[in-house]
Amino acid sequence: MGKIRAAISGVAGYVPDGVITNQDLEQMVETNDEWILSRTGIKERRILRDPTKATSDMAVEAIKVLLAQKAISPEEIDMIIVGTVTGDYVFPDTANLIAHKIGATNAFGFDINAACSGFIFSLVTASKFIETGTHKKILVVGADKMSSIVNYEDRATCILFGDGAGVVLLEPDTEGVGIEDSILRADGSGSQFLFQKAGGSLHPATAETVKNKEHFAYQEGRVVFKAAIKGMSDSIREIMKNNELSQDDIDYVIAHQANKRIIHGVADMLGFDKEKVLVNIENYGNTTAATIPLCLRDFESKFKKGDRIILTAFGGGFTWGSILLKWAY
Ligand code: UT7
Repeated sequence: MGKIRAAISGVAGYVPDGVITNQDLEQMVETNDEWILSRTGIKERRILRDPTKATSDMAVEAIKVLLAQKAISPEEIDMIIVGTVTGDYVFPDTANLIAHKIGATNAFGFDINAACSGFIFSLVTASKFIETGTHKKILVVGADKMSSIVNYEDRATCILFGDGAGVVLLEPDTEGVGIEDSILRADGSGSQFLFQKAGGSLHPATAETVKNKEHFAYQEGRVVFKAAIKGMSDSIREIMKNNELSQDDIDYVIAHQANKRIIHGVADMLGFDKEKVLVNIENYGNTTAATIPLCLRDFESKFKKGDRIILTAFGGGFTWGSILLKWAY
């Protein structure tokens, strides 16, 4: 029997019905469609408007689609890992709530807080449980209700973010497909450039923190922009070198969708054809941990068994990294 690898055997996603277009934002802050489109590539974002619904509910919708596609029951799931910065509560973990809502009574799970790198951090973590043979069916979720932490009076951030959820099923494979390698990195010295100031143990919620709008995402865009291009490019270059691969050996690159200029900047730095670098940011904006699984869902029909794909992300923390995999179906 060959080495056990963790393979993505299915993917699904969910975005809510509510839409905020660039034209809508023109009515809310001092901005315009031309600026947003040319600086970010975003046309619209989806927003979860129902105040009784949260991140777990979007994830549950995505998971229902996936379980139906794969014809498996929730009881067969043995683990759920959720990349998110907008869990339903500070505690308990959203993974627990999801397990309960879908009836995954044999699963345990937890959340991973790595911001926009949340999905790739979760996928690598899950892959280790598969590779050791202890777990057979893991749901890896990337989901964020960014509208719950976006200040719609701050044009520097409100044009960027949207809500959504994506999920993959991770299963063992011994036929040579699945996750081949990964590089994950973190640098806490970048924490102040992209973060939510209040609501944690350092600055718990007070009337003052609410008044000062410290429960919203704050970002110094230019610093993050440069660090994102460098982090993603460096980790892709390193993983290709470690595996003796050239650009011709890679079929697709799926980068975290934060800004079309960042994604194309990475492609240019590394000399990748633009057709290999998949982009769907125009429809959803930056959905934080959900961008990569939503991309996998939207472009799933392109992929063939054995295709070599690189997933790469950069996010608050700072956190970043890349995953090299062979598509399994
Ligand atoms: O997902 C986690 C990682 N996050 C990211 O990767 C996001 C990284 N950052 C970015 O994507 C970009 O930095 C932004 C899209 C946030 C901003 O784009 P930029 O090209 O870096 O713009 P800037 O902040 O340098 O601002 C350029 C100009 C400024 O005006 P002046 O000083 O040149 O007169 C801003 O005041 O654009 C102005 N500006 C805007 N104008 C219209 C900033 N935001 C807006 C806006 N509409 N929404």
